[in-house]
Parts: sequence; structure tokens; C-alpha cells
Amino acid sequence: MNNNKKILLLGSNGLLGSTLKNIIEKKNNTLTTIARKHADYKFDLKDFRQLKKVISANSYDVVINCAAYINFEFCEKNKKKIFLINALLPKYLSNLSKLYAFKLIHISSDAIYTSTTKNKINTENAKTGYVNAYAKSKFYAEKYCKKYKKNLIIRTNFVDYNQKSFIYWAYKKLKDEKQLILYNDMFTSTLDVKYCSNIILQMIENNLSGTYNLGSKDSISKKDFIVKLAKVLGHNCNFLETSVKANKIKKSCNLGLNVNKIEKKLNINMKDSKSVISTIAKNVRSRN
Ligand SMILES: NC(=O)c1ccc[n+]([C@@H]2O[C@H](COP(=O)([O-])OP(=O)(O)OC[C@H]3O[C@@H](n4cnc5c(N)ncnc54)[C@H](OP(=O)(O)O)[C@@H]3O)[C@@H](O)[C@H]2O)c1
Repeated sequence: MNNNKKILLLGSNGLLGSTLKNIIEKKNNTLTTIARKHADYKFDLKDFRQLKKVISANSYDVVINCAAYINFEFCEKNKKKIFLINALLPKYLSNLSKLYAFKLIHISSDAIYTSTTKNKINTENAKTGYVNAYAKSKFYAEKYCKKYKKNLIIRTNFVDYNQKSFIYWAYKKLKDEKQLILYNDMFTSTLDVKYCSNIILQMIENNLSGTYNLGSKDSISKKDFIVKLAKVLGHNCNFLETSVKANKIKKSCNLGLNVNKIEKKLNINMKDSKSVISTIAKNVRSRN
């Protein structure tokens, strides 16, 4: 990346934020971080005035927003609170992007695809909407960010082996030889977070604007992902299949991402789910 670029990263302690931070720092960029702790500026992002002060006092080229509430249960119970951070903060940032002439990188979600077609691979033009509070906040965030054509909106899904992830939960069960209950009808094009972050950096370097899917080439059910991961790790996988429909909170389940647009734009070949599983297995091995 061009070293002259000044980047502001919001939510720098989260899964995506911390991974991006490491990658951006290694490339010797001028990076400033905002988070509630362990950051250059430490404050709660509901304080929009403080945010404006930081942005107006510095001429950032790029602002990457990785802050959001992502826990579906929490989102259902705290609709107003999460809408402020997940939707109104991006709206505010989008307005500031016009005022202070920076490029806003908004991290959206595959959760806004609402197709009922089994294992649908959604293009960027596919139907969007929401079936729960989290998805509603992400849906409106996109709507606000789209107001300015210069902004970049990335619809993605990523995982890693860390304590908050479903991989961590699944691996613990595999190790303890306990039964897993796995969705057989929820399909995603999830990426390992490091790969996802590297592509996001490429998107910034290439000054992309507009809306892009960012996922693996194919789409795989949650069940198959874990069964294949267990196989690579040499664990027996004792599981029961269940449907997303059994979940207390309504969820979209055909979240496959068609990645033709980003592949063409960056002249790359996105990795497939097999390769993602192999990376995650390596991470599990190296951290145990
Ligand atoms: N994980 C996925 O698979 C996935 C899929 C699709 C889209 N996304 C999107 O990707 C982005 C990053 O997600 P992630 O998985 O990296 O989430 P994460 O690990 O939960 O990180 C989110 C970060 O947001 C920060 N945050 C939340 N509310 C805040 C507030 N009021 N003030 C300051 N910071 C606040 C949190 O700070 P604390 O550390 O202080 O709590 C946390 O570090 C989000 O926009 C999410 O919607 C994620």
C-alpha cells in the first residue's frame, strides 16, 4: 500500500479489527486505532462528538469501521443500543466521509441475504433484507453508506480459532468426544480471517468503491464445515443434525457469496472452503 495513506481503524480489538491492524502495521502504514481500550484513542463509539473531533483534527485517507455488536442474542435483546453502533455509527461516518474527504470502508454482512433457495450463491444484486435485529442493523448501515459512491461496502463472513468462535466451541466438543449439534441447512462462504483481511487490504490499495461480496469460492453448510474440519484434524465427529429453523432467533440460511466481481476486479482466484478448512485446522493445531 502507498505509505502516504493515513488509515483510521475503528474496533481494532475485535476479530477482524485486530487482524487488519497486524497486517496494516506490517506494511508500515500510518495507522491510528479507536477502541474502548488498548488503542490510540480509547472511547466508546457511541460518543459521536469525540469521533468527529478525532477525524476533523487529522486528514485520514481511509477509515475502516470494524466496530459492531455481532452476538445475535444480544442484538435481539438490545435493539436500540446495537442499532446505534451497527447502523447509526456507519451513517454518521458516511456523512463525515463527504465532509472530510476520506474513503469509508464499511464491513457489512452476508446476513442481509434472505433467499430461501437452498444453498443459493448470492451475487451482489441478489435480494437483501433482514429477519433479525442484527441483520436489520447491518441492512440499514449499508443503505446509509451507499449514499456516497466513493464508499466501499464489503459483504463478508470470516472465522478463526479463538475463544468467541464456533470453531472453538466445536473443537472443544471434538476433543472431549462430546456430541455436536450442527446446522445442516445453513450455508456460508466463510473465509479464515487472515485471508479475508489481506483481500480487504488489496481492495483498499486498489481504491475500490461500491459493494463487493468477499467469501470463499463455494458455499458449505455449517455441518459439513465441522465434519470436514474434524476429518482434517483426525478427530471422530459425533454429531446430530438440526435445522436453523429450530433456533430461537430467526436466521437467514442461504448465505453463499458469489465472488466473481471481486475476482475479476483484482484479477485473483478466491480460495475455496477446502482451503479455508485447511488453514483453520493449521491454526487449531498451532494453538493447542
Ligand atoms: N464474524 C463474522 O463472521 C462476521 C460476518 C459478517 C460480518 N461481520 C462484520 O464484521 C465486522 C467485525 O466483526 P468481528 O467478527 O470482528 O466482531 P468482534 O470480534 O465482535 O469485534 C467487534 C468490535 O467492535 C467493538 N465495539 C462494539 N461496540 C462498540 C462501542 N460501542 N464502542 C467501541 N467499540 C465497540 C468491540 O469492542 P470491545 O472489544 O471493546 O467489545 C469489538 O472489538 C462487524 O461489522 C460485523 O458485523 C462479521
